[in-house]
Amino acid sequence: MQIKTAPEALQAVENFTLPDELGFGRVMAPVMVEANYQDGKWSDFNLVPYGPISMLPTAKVLHYGQEIFEGLKSYRIGGNGPFLFRPDQNAKRFNHSARRMAMPEVPVEHFVEAVKELSKVCATIIPRRSGESLYLRPFMFSTEEALGIKPSDSFKFMIVASPSGSYFSGGTISVLIERSAVRAAPGGTGNAKTGGNYAAALEAAIETKKLGHDQTLWLDAITRKNIEEMSGMNFACIIDNKLVTPAITDSILEGITRNSLLKIAPLLDLQVEEKKLTIDELIAAIKEGRCTEAFACGTAAILTPIHQIAEKDGTVYKLSKAPGPKSTALRQALLDIQEGRRESPDPSWVINLG
Ligand code: COI
Repeated sequence: MQIKTAPEALQAVENFTLPDELGFGRVMAPVMVEANYQDGKWSDFNLVPYGPISMLPTAKVLHYGQEIFEGLKSYRIGGNGPFLFRPDQNAKRFNHSARRMAMPEVPVEHFVEAVKELSKVCATIIPRRSGESLYLRPFMFSTEEALGIKPSDSFKFMIVASPSGSYFSGGTISVLIERSAVRAAPGGTGNAKTGGNYAAALEAAIETKKLGHDQTLWLDAITRKNIEEMSGMNFACIIDNKLVTPAITDSILEGITRNSLLKIAPLLDLQVEEKKLTIDELIAAIKEGRCTEAFACGTAAILTPIHQIAEKDGTVYKLSKAPGPKSTALRQALLDIQEGRRESPDPSWVINLG
């Protein structure tokens, strides 16, 4: 499959100036990928100038939220690359989400080719400082114009891109335990990457911010004891010198960064354990000094250390204010692999488009 790149798209990249201040997901690359699904098949995949899309008000996505997305990055630190990190895993997870949301799959090769082409076309506008990247956002939504509740018969697939810096502006974050609202339930859509899961976390995000914290820590819907994840990233911690993270259930999104860290940790002589981790066990381990570090991990967040975990009543369980040694080593090893400075545990992880 060949992506058709419009000459105007190449011109748009040439005319683009990368601002010095990036933030996360604010600056948009001047190009995007677009394809349509109709009558059981995908159209050509086209790389075109970034711009508005036209839809009628009855497009099903606007009423029933039939939508999925992914997040991955293209790296060009010091002018090397562009490098892509495990894009096939994003393609597979995208199709997992598509099945759950009654949407058509995008062939893995098409997805990966589109991501490669967009990265190559944008090579000159990928930021060059460590921790920065071109954040790629593939997404798909239903476009059929009808109000009946049934799966759409037409869809649009797109990839937009954003030259981005850190997701969190501070070095470490504060996390608020959510003990009443629920993000995802067994049998629901929690382990599909669909917009509704993120929308379901927004009301809690308002309270989290109001109380002075950065992310909400979600517990399982049934027992309200097991740690699941945060609103936009997975949770992990160091207990008894081991990397511990909640085992994946059908209400936790299986993070590619999480999975990669579990494979990188043993290279740093760090044992890993995926298990049912209760909030009580975490709190006890912090109080006893056995939990020495905790962190958020995800494509956007990379690895961001957590300096405290708090209750809504103001109780705070404190960890070190400065990033801990294991979080620092893991983050550095991950970035060294993603940014092309260190060999990855599996040669298929990093694709050099340079
Ligand atoms: C990502 O890490 O790519 C996500 O989709 C999470 C979102 C909070 C930006």
